[in-house]
Amino acid sequence: MQPMKTWPYPRVVAHRGGGTLAPENTLAGLCVGAAFGHTMAEFDVKLSADDITFLLHDDTLDRTSNGQGAAAQLRYRQIAAFDAGSWLDARFEDEHMPTLAEAAQCCREEGLAANVEIKPCPGRDAQTGRLVAAETARLWAKPMAAGALPPLLSSFSVEALIAAREAAPDVPRGLLVERVPDDWREQTAALGCVSLHASYRHLDEALVARIKEAGLFILAYTVNDLDAAQRLVRWGVDTVCTDRIDLIGPHALD
Ligand code: G3P
Ligand code: MG
Repeated sequence: MQPMKTWPYPRVVAHRGGGTLAPENTLAGLCVGAAFGHTMAEFDVKLSADDITFLLHDDTLDRTSNGQGAAAQLRYRQIAAFDAGSWLDARFEDEHMPTLAEAAQCCREEGLAANVEIKPCPGRDAQTGRLVAAETARLWAKPMAAGALPPLLSSFSVEALIAAREAAPDVPRGLLVERVPDDWREQTAALGCVSLHASYRHLDEALVARIKEAGLFILAYTVNDLDAAQRLVRWGVDTVCTDRIDLIGPHALD
């Protein structure tokens, strides 16, 4: 893809859909994020045993559903039957782990841009990168509403990002890291990334300045404190990803 000259995305992204105010990586989460006025959401996407792209953070089902065991061992039809909402609150008992297609449709209806995090199960990095990127390109290729933003792919997995670039070279990519590595210039260049997505805990003003001077954009996660978010933006961070979609509103950092 062509280098991105300006960052089209908003300053605030709702983490896992609705942050901590709704069950993560569900359609209800996306709707709650939008209800708070947010215009972009991040969510995690992996593959079922039958290679369906669907939303889930962990390798296993246990924490965020009434299912058990490794997600990669089950077909999506089985995964879809689990309750992915009651673990947070009984009023979300009808939530399921949606497909990427369902999430894309929900984003379209709610006016949300998407940060699609490729989150491979162990050993499935390349296949997940390839299929999530191809499906993202396909789903967001449908005519978009005026002003709608392109999806942004990201991953901690270098292997997944390489496969994503091969499958969908025109969908922008960000390299996800906890701590910015010494070779961030080489890594992002080799992967054709437009952005670095780093834990805010390991960012400082000088590092942010160096990354910006290199022409990269920066997303900092997961920022749940308004003062910290404002400081990051003063340093030059382009976007913060937050669980506290209530505390850090869509215009809190304008
Ligand atoms: O993209 C930011 C954040 O989602 C990365 O960490 O573990 O919440 O997916 P995690
Ligand atoms: Mg994530």
